[in-house]
Amino acid sequence: MKTIVLKINPLGKIDVKIPAEILKDEGLVAFPTETVYGLGANAFDPKAVEKIFKVKGRAQDNPLIVHVSSFEKMKEIAEVPEKYESIIRKLTPGPITFVLKKKSEIPDVVTAGLDTVGVRIPAHPVANLLCKEVGFIAAPSANLSGKPSPTDSNAVIEDLFGKIECIIDSGKTPFGLESTIIDLSADIPIILRPGPITVEELENIFGKVEIPEFIRTAKQVENPKAPGMKYRHYAPEKPLYMFFEKDRDKILEILEKENGVVIAPKEHTRFYPKNRFIVIGTLEKPFSIAQNLFKTLRDFDKSNFDIGFIEAFQESGILFSVMNRLKKAAKLWR
Ligand code: TXA
Ligand code: MG
Repeated sequence: MKTIVLKINPLGKIDVKIPAEILKDEGLVAFPTETVYGLGANAFDPKAVEKIFKVKGRAQDNPLIVHVSSFEKMKEIAEVPEKYESIIRKLTPGPITFVLKKKSEIPDVVTAGLDTVGVRIPAHPVANLLCKEVGFIAAPSANLSGKPSPTDSNAVIEDLFGKIECIIDSGKTPFGLESTIIDLSADIPIILRPGPITVEELENIFGKVEIPEFIRTAKQVENPKAPGMKYRHYAPEKPLYMFFEKDRDKILEILEKENGVVIAPKEHTRFYPKNRFIVIGTLEKPFSIAQNLFKTLRDFDKSNFDIGFIEAFQESGILFSVMNRLKKAAKLWR
């Protein structure tokens, strides 16, 4: 298939006529959001949505998030409990997805037959305008299943060129980590995926929230609330280990022999040989670590190193969300 790569400067005059037409005509478009790139289809076109699963190699029982341009649009497809209205209005548009009782005839293929739907209002100007033009866009992250999520168009091209109609290139995505997911369909809000809106912020906003065990351990579970949790994720092809400071000396001992590389924040540069070190960001600005995470994993795969060792982070704020992804991407070194 011929794939158009369309450059759109998010800070300039934005024209999404071409990708909007493709979406309305049963096609697939990869587009930037403030979190990661999404692979979109018209949510009300089951045939188009089915193509997403095929192209990604995604399991059918893993539901998709529906993207809309406004709160009013959200209410067209989902029941928004009155007590959460003002909170949702405050948090949107932004890097957060709400799981709500579904209202309308959104095709089963989108929600994997659940009676809830994940809805997100992206703040990225390109994504938001595209939603405005098309109405309802079902979109997972624009990577092949199991691969790290794409945070620039090169990563999308790597995975999907020749397989979809259009890839929009708007440069790097600002957050680099997928949206926070919170389930508001039950009595107490449940965090299904930590993300750019942090657990601490959610606790402040909602008061009481449930943090399921699988969020902390990031273990693959049999019957999770967010179906995506049971699949392998984000993993590079090469072996990648996460380690704690206490094991640094052991890692240093084998680094050369195993042709390994260490991935760690800038502040720790002095601990490692220069030629076997990749900077992932700075602890001073922990959001930089989130922003670089997935690209670093992809770059590591393309590097000449045979094995990777990534330092574990303190689990608070955005780094809690980073650790949630790392626990799935890497094995624990012991
Ligand atoms: O930031 C993001 O959320 C990106 C951009 C493109 O918006 N999208 C994204 O989609 O990360 P995806 O499909 O890669 O991850 C969505 C997760 C999956 O784990 C899925 O199981 C869960 O959301 N999910 C979707 N709908 C759900 C529902 N109704 N109930 C529970 N979990 C749901
Ligand atoms: Mg994904």
